[in-house]
Amino acid sequence: MLERFSKWKANLTAADLPDHQVEEGNLPQHVAIIMDGNGRWAKKKGLPRIAGHREGMKVVTKIVRTSSDIGIEVLTLYAFSTENWKRPKKEVDYLLGLPERYLSAELPKLIKNNVQVRLMGTTEHLPDHTLKAVEKAIKDTKHNTGMILNFALNYGSRFEMLEAVKSIGKQIERGELKADTLTEEHIHAQLMTSQLKDPDLLIRTSGEIRLSNFMLWQLAYSEFWFSDILWPDFKEKDFLEAIAVYQKRKRRYGGV
Ligand code: FPP
Repeated sequence: MLERFSKWKANLTAADLPDHQVEEGNLPQHVAIIMDGNGRWAKKKGLPRIAGHREGMKVVTKIVRTSSDIGIEVLTLYAFSTENWKRPKKEVDYLLGLPERYLSAELPKLIKNNVQVRLMGTTEHLPDHTLKAVEKAIKDTKHNTGMILNFALNYGSRFEMLEAVKSIGKQIERGELKADTLTEEHIHAQLMTSQLKDPDLLIRTSGEIRLSNFMLWQLAYSEFWFSDILWPDFKEKDFLEAIAVYQKRKRRYGGV
């Protein structure tokens, strides 16, 4: 991983670098991003909201590439929440078309870069074309051993926890588990991230300081980095800045 980092850094100019230096070691292994501000970006420019989402997709391309280049192990992107169904149908349709658009352009590059695509969320109500595109990407990249690109699509943390509780309840009913001996590991095993390490770093753009039903269990000990930048304006340099700031934090996990 360090060799990969040095190679990546050698290709940068001073203008690409953030104010703070990203160090070779101590990279966050799992970065999760709430990509917020597409609508406001579009409004500021007098454009329809979907123009903001289209621009946001271009930023996804760049951040995925940078994350994989520097050696991030898992990148989770909040692409569509269980609450986003409340938006106008036209916007919902557009948002749910983005994974297919993105993957039709990027899948060959993801394969070449050894990226593994995963999906986190419920497939219920997702349009067939979206599901097909994502399932194809998962299948075509399942033997890749590089970065995991985890799309949170139709994802909500409370829904995820509710499903976990139901599943544990059934195991108790069947006599496979006892309520008194339940551990955090049992809960972890039922979450959609059971195969993943918890995020080390959460990034949210656009100046909103909240979690919006995103990975509430998994973010218990993550470092948070909030930025006023609207997602379509978010640059690789800003992403690296978040990582550099993370690297300066002292994580104590409740200890001293
Ligand atoms: C929140 O901004 C953003 C979303 C609900 C969608 C984010 C989606 C992308 C950035 C593109 C996803 C790309 C792929 C490949 C899946 P908002 O619309 O709530 O912005 P606002 O708060 O300014 O209105």
